[in-house]
Parts: sequence; structure tokens; C-alpha cells
Amino acid sequence: MSILCPYCLKPIAQDHFIDQIAREIPLLKLPTKVFGIWVQHNYASLYAFQELFSLFDFETVIELGTGSGAISLFLWQHQHLRKKPIYTFDHRDPQIPLWEYPSLFYCKEDLTTIEVIQRIQQIIKKEGRTFIYCDNGNKPQEFKTFAPFLKIGDVIGVHDWPSEISKEHTESLISEINLKEILADFTTQYATHQKFWLRMEK
Ligand SMILES: C[S@@+](CC[C@H](N)C(=O)[O-])C[C@H]1O[C@@H](n2cnc3c(N)ncnc32)[C@H](O)[C@@H]1O
Repeated sequence: MSILCPYCLKPIAQDHFIDQIAREIPLLKLPTKVFGIWVQHNYASLYAFQELFSLFDFETVIELGTGSGAISLFLWQHQHLRKKPIYTFDHRDPQIPLWEYPSLFYCKEDLTTIEVIQRIQQIIKKEGRTFIYCDNGNKPQEFKTFAPFLKIGDVIGVHDWPSEISKEHTESLISEINLKEILADFTTQYATHQKFWLRMEK
């Protein structure tokens, strides 16, 4: 008897099912599925988040670019364990009903409007360590708009490095506001397409 591989939909022998699945889900494949739902992140990037949440407790997490909502749910689990909130912004509804989860604030908003930008800046300013993750339509602009509002000890992350955001977009602001890259070895070695920086004292 053969069954279909849920990823490639080709018939595979049951005996080889586990082996086949393992081969079908390499760590770096993109896109992939989290909670059975497509995301634009590879599995290695989830390990990078794990590392980040092992290093820091965040009072607040802000995700820009909800997409399907599966990465939001992954980040929410970390926050939920600590009884802390997460805000996620997108102008399109996610596939997952995120509004059903406690302290997960799905904000259906256009991130280019001044009111929304100011609201996010106010959330960053709240007391306690903030992590803001830029994975929206215009990552260089998000980085430029929100990084200056980080408090000392806050973390900013970006996705799609270096295809959508790269050194030329970040270099001068990094030195101006004193951001220190963290998890660099990990994100480079595992090609997670992410970058993370911690805001340091001058
Ligand atoms: C790269 S996807 C996010 C992917 C998601 N984080 C994941 O890994 O599955 C970028 C998202 O930004 C959203 N977006 C683009 N421009 C936007 C805007 N001006 N305001 C709000 N959301 C926007 C899109 O709807 C899209 O869901």
C-alpha cells in the first residue's frame, strides 16, 4: 500500500514514510509549513527565534507582516508562556484566526499610514524590553522608521536579508544609534535570511 507524501504529493511506500518526510523537509527549504500552514520562513529561522527567546524575556513583541499567521502563532507561544503580549500588523487577514488567542493583538492596518506608525512607536516606548520584527512590504523603510525608537536593551530583527534589506539600508543607522548585531553566527551558518540587533548604551 502506498500513501501520498503531504509535501510533494507523490506516492510513497509506508515503510519509507518517515525517511521520505525527513528528506522532504530540509532545514533550509523555503517556503515551508509551520502548524501545517505555509510561511515565508525556513525551519532554521525558527531555531533563531528559539535562541533569541532563550537570551531575552520580552515585555512586548511586535511583528510587522503577519502573512498566514503561523509565525505570529509561533512567536505568540513564547510570549504566552511568559504571560506577555504580541502585536502583529498586516493589511490582509491571516489564515489563522489570531484574534482568538489571548494577548495576541492582530492589527489589520496599513503600515504606511502615519497613525499606525505612531501607534507602533508608542508600543515600542512602553516600559520593558521590546522585540520588533520587520517582515513587511518595505523592510528598509520599517527599519529606518522604527529602529530610532528602540530603548536601550530592545531588539530589532529583519527578514529577507540580503534580498530585500541589506547593509546599505542599515549601516549608518546602526552606528548612529549603537545597535550590536546578535546571533550573527547562527543566522549566517544556517542561512535563516534574518538579522537581529540589540540597542546598546552609547
Ligand atoms: C513577507 S509577508 C509576511 C510573511 C510572514 N511573516 C511569514 O513568514 O509567513 C509580508 C506581509 O506584509 C503585508 N504588507 C505589505 N504591505 C503592507 C502594508 N502597507 N501594510 C500592512 N501590511 C502590508 C502583506 O500583506 C504580507 O502578508
